[in-house]
Amino acid sequence: MESVDIFKLIWLVGLFLFVQCNAFETLVEDDKQALLDFVEKLPHLHVLKWDKDCPVCKNWTGVICNENGSRVISLRLPGVGFQGSIPENTLSRLSALQILSLRANGINGTFPLELLKLKNLSALYLQFNNLTGPLPADLSVLPNLSIVNLSSNKFNGSIPSSISLLRKLSSLNLASNLLSGEIPDLGLPSLQYLNVSYNNLSGIVPQSLQRFPKSMFDGNDASLLNYNVSSSPVVSIPREASAKSKNGVKLSERALVGIIVAASALGVLGVGFLLLVFCLRGKSEDGFSGKLEKGNMSPEKAVSRTQDANNRLSFFEGCNYVFDLEDLLRASAEVLGKGTFGTAYKAILEDATMVVVKRLKDVSVGKRDFEQQMEVVGRIKHENVVELRAYYYSKDEKLMVFDYYSQGSVATTLHGKKGGNKTTLDWDTRVRIATGAARGIARVHTENGGKFVHGNIKSSNVFLNFQQYGCVSDVGMATIMSPLAHPIARAAGYRAPELTDTRKATQASDVYSFGVFVLELLTAKSPVHTTRGNEVIHLVRWVHSVVREEWTGEVFDVELMKYPNIEEEMVEMLQIALSCVVRVADQRPKMFEVVKLMENLRRRELENQYSSEARTSMPDADPTVEQE
Ligand SMILES: *[C@@H]1O[C@H](CO)[C@@H](O)[C@H](O)[C@H]1NC(C)=O
Ligand SMILES: *[C@@H]1O[C@H](CO)[C@@H](O)[C@H](O)[C@H]1NC(C)=O
Ligand SMILES: *[C@@H]1O[C@H](CO)[C@@H](O)[C@H](O)[C@H]1NC(C)=O
Ligand SMILES: *[C@@H]1O[C@H](CO)[C@@H](O)[C@H](O)[C@H]1NC(C)=O
Ligand SMILES: *[C@@H]1O[C@H](CO)[C@@H](O)[C@H](O)[C@H]1NC(C)=O
Ligand SMILES: *[C@@H]1O[C@H](CO)[C@@H](O)[C@H](O)[C@H]1NC(C)=O
Ligand SMILES: *[C@@H]1O[C@H](CO)[C@@H](O)[C@H](O)[C@H]1NC(C)=O
Ligand SMILES: *[C@@H]1O[C@H](CO)[C@@H](O)[C@H](O)[C@H]1NC(C)=O
Ligand SMILES: *[C@@H]1O[C@H](CO)[C@@H](O)[C@H](O)[C@H]1NC(C)=O
Ligand SMILES: *[C@@H]1O[C@H](CO)[C@@H](O)[C@H](O)[C@H]1NC(C)=O
Ligand SMILES: *[C@@H]1O[C@H](CO)[C@@H](O)[C@H](O)[C@H]1NC(C)=O
Repeated sequence: MESVDIFKLIWLVGLFLFVQCNAFETLVEDDKQALLDFVEKLPHLHVLKWDKDCPVCKNWTGVICNENGSRVISLRLPGVGFQGSIPENTLSRLSALQILSLRANGINGTFPLELLKLKNLSALYLQFNNLTGPLPADLSVLPNLSIVNLSSNKFNGSIPSSISLLRKLSSLNLASNLLSGEIPDLGLPSLQYLNVSYNNLSGIVPQSLQRFPKSMFDGNDASLLNYNVSSSPVVSIPREASAKSKNGVKLSERALVGIIVAASALGVLGVGFLLLVFCLRGKSEDGFSGKLEKGNMSPEKAVSRTQDANNRLSFFEGCNYVFDLEDLLRASAEVLGKGTFGTAYKAILEDATMVVVKRLKDVSVGKRDFEQQMEVVGRIKHENVVELRAYYYSKDEKLMVFDYYSQGSVATTLHGKKGGNKTTLDWDTRVRIATGAARGIARVHTENGGKFVHGNIKSSNVFLNFQQYGCVSDVGMATIMSPLAHPIARAAGYRAPELTDTRKATQASDVYSFGVFVLELLTAKSPVHTTRGNEVIHLVRWVHSVVREEWTGEVFDVELMKYPNIEEEMVEMLQIALSCVVRVADQRPKMFEVVKLMENLRRRELENQYSSEARTSMPDADPTVEQE
C-alpha cells in the first residue's frame, strides 16, 4: 500500500515538474518560432546557423536568453544581408527582448512600428540600413530605451520631441539621415552621447544640448546656430548622486553659512544719522497731481521746493512723492544695512509708503559726473530694475532714493537675517529671480550706447518685485565710487578674476557676478564662506570641483530636493551659471544671451507643466506656482 503511495507521489512530482518545464519551454518555444518566422519572411544573403532542432538558447547565432533560459532577451544580427522591410508580427512577439541589433543590413521601408511593442527594449541599433520616412512620433512607449542608434538611414521629417520623455536615454545617434526642422529641447540630463550631424536640421541648438561638442551638429542646414556657451565643463546629474544628497548634506554646514552671511550683511552700525520723514504729496493713482500743483515743473525732472540750487533733491519723471531735503533731514529712519558704498535706510512716509535712502560714502566723481550718471540710471525704467526716484548731491552728503521692497533682498531671503528665520525659496521662485535679474542687467547694459555697467551685482542687491521676479538695485553706483575705497568688499566672491583693485567693472565682469549670484541661488551657499575647519571656500571653485568629480547632485541646495522633476532645469541653470563664470572674460556670454537661455529654460518648464502628467500630479507642488 505504502509503495503505491510513494509511486503516486513521485508521479505527481514528475507531472508537476513536467508542467513547469513545459511552461518555460512554451515561452521560449514561442520566441523560437517568432525568430524562425522572422528569418523566413525576410530574405537574407548569408546563411544563419539556426538549427530548428537545437535549443534556441544554446547554439543559435546572435541569440541570448535570460539566465534560466525561459525567454530570448537579446538579438544581434548585424551584416546578415537582410533585404526588405521587417515582416509584421514576428519580432514583436519577442516581448522580453532588451537588445536588438540589425545594423548594417539592407532593411528598407519605414520605421518598423512592430518594434514599439517591445516594452523592455533598452538598446536599439538600426544604423546603416535603408529605412525611410518619419521617426515614430511617440517613442515614449519604450520607456526603458537607453541606447538608440538610427544613424546612416534615410529617415526624414523632424526629430520627435517625445524623445525627451525617454528618461533613461544615454546615447542617441541620428546622424546621416534626412531629418529636418528644429532640434527639440530634449533636456535629458542622462544623455551622454548625442550625434545629429549630417541631416538637414535648422534653428538653434537648444541650451540643454549645447554641452555636446559642436561636431555633433555638423553638416546641417547653414542656419543651424550653435551658441557657444559650452565652455563650462559638461555636467550631468547622476540619479544616485541626487538621491544621495537628499540625505547626505550636513546641516551644521548650512547653519554655519547662514550665520556668517547674516553677520557680514548686518554689521553693527552706529545709528544716528538722518532721521527721515517724507512729506508725501499727491500720491494719487495717476501720479500727476503733485506735478500739477507745482505748475512749472518740467516733466522730466521735478525740482524740490528748496530754492538753493546747490542743495536740491532731484526727482525723476513719474515720481509721485516730492519732499524737501529739510524733510529728509528731520525724518527718522531705520537702518537697513551697511553696503559696499554706504548705508541704506528705510524711511516710512506719512501714508506708510516706504522708500530706501542710500547715503553714499567715498563718491569719487564731481557733481557734474555724478548727475550725469544719475540721469542715466534714472532713465532706466524696467520692471526688473529697482527704480531710482531721486538723488541729492552736496559737498558733504550724497543720497539716492529708491523704491522699497518689503520682502528684503534675495540675500536675506536665501540666507536669513541674524536672529531671524530664512524663508525657503521654492524652485519656481528661484527661476523667476534669476530670470528677472538677468533681464534687468541686460536692460542696464543697453544704456549709454550699450556700454553701461552695473558693477555691483550680488544677492543683497537683488529684490523680489511684485510678480516675484528678480529686480536689480544699485545700478551704476560702482562707476561713481572710488575703486580704491572698497577693494576688500568688492572681492567678496562676486568679483571677476580679471578685475584688479584699480580696474573698473565691465559688462563681462557683471556677467561673472551674475553667474556667482545664480550659483548662490542654486546652492544656497554664500560666494565666500567658511567651513567648520575655518577653511575659506570660494563658491565658484567649490562648484567646479564638485562638478568635476561628477557629483553634480551634491551642488544643489537640499531644500530643492523636495521638488520633483526639476533636475534637468537645475542642471541647465547650473550650466548657464558656469558659462558666466568662466575665467576668460570674452568667453562669457553676453547678458542678452543669458536672458534667452533663462527664458528657454522657463518656457520648457511651462510646456512641461501642461504636457507632462507627472508634473501636474506632483504631490507636494506649490499651488501658487501653477498660476504663473
Ligand atoms: C553547439 O555548437 C558547438 C560548436 O559550435 C558544438 O560543439 C556543440 O555540440 C553544439 N551544441 C549543441 C547542443 O548542438
Ligand atoms: C526565470 O527568469 C525570469 C526573469 O529573468 C523570472 O521571471 C522567472 O521567475 C525565472 N524562473 C525561474 C524558475 O527561475
Ligand atoms: C525594399 O527592398 C526590397 C529588396 O531590395 C525591394 O524589393 C523593395 O521594393 C524595397 N522596398 C521599398 C519600400 O523600397
Ligand atoms: C521586462 O524585464 C523585467 C526584468 O528585467 C521582467 O521582470 C519583465 O517580465 C519583462 N517584461 C516582459 C514583458 O517580459
Ligand atoms: C539602399 O537602397 C539603395 C537603392 O535605393 C541601394 O543602392 C543600396 O544598396 C541600399 N543599401 C543597402 C545597405 O542595402
Ligand atoms: C525596465 O527595466 C527594468 C530593469 O532595468 C525593469 O525592472 C522594468 O520592468 C523595465 N520596464 C519595462 C516597462 O519593461
Ligand atoms: C552608432 O552607429 C555609428 C555608425 O555605425 C557608430 O559609429 C556609433 O559608434 C554607434 N553609436 C553607438 C552609441 O552605438
Ligand atoms: C519623406 O520622404 C518621403 C519619400 O521617401 C516623402 O514622401 C515624404 O514627403 C517625406 N517627408 C518629409 C517630411 O519630408
Ligand atoms: C557623428 O556622426 C557622424 C556621421 O555619422 C560621424 O562622421 C562622426 O564621427 C560622429 N561623431 C562621433 C564623435 O561619433
Ligand atoms: C532641407 O530643409 C529645407 C526646409 O527646412 C528644405 O527646403 C530643403 O529642401 C531640405 N534639403 C534637403 C537636402 O533635404
Ligand atoms: C566652444 O568653446 C570651447 C571651450 O571654450 C572651445 O574649445 C570651442 O572651440 C568653442 N567652439 C566654438 C564653435 O566657438
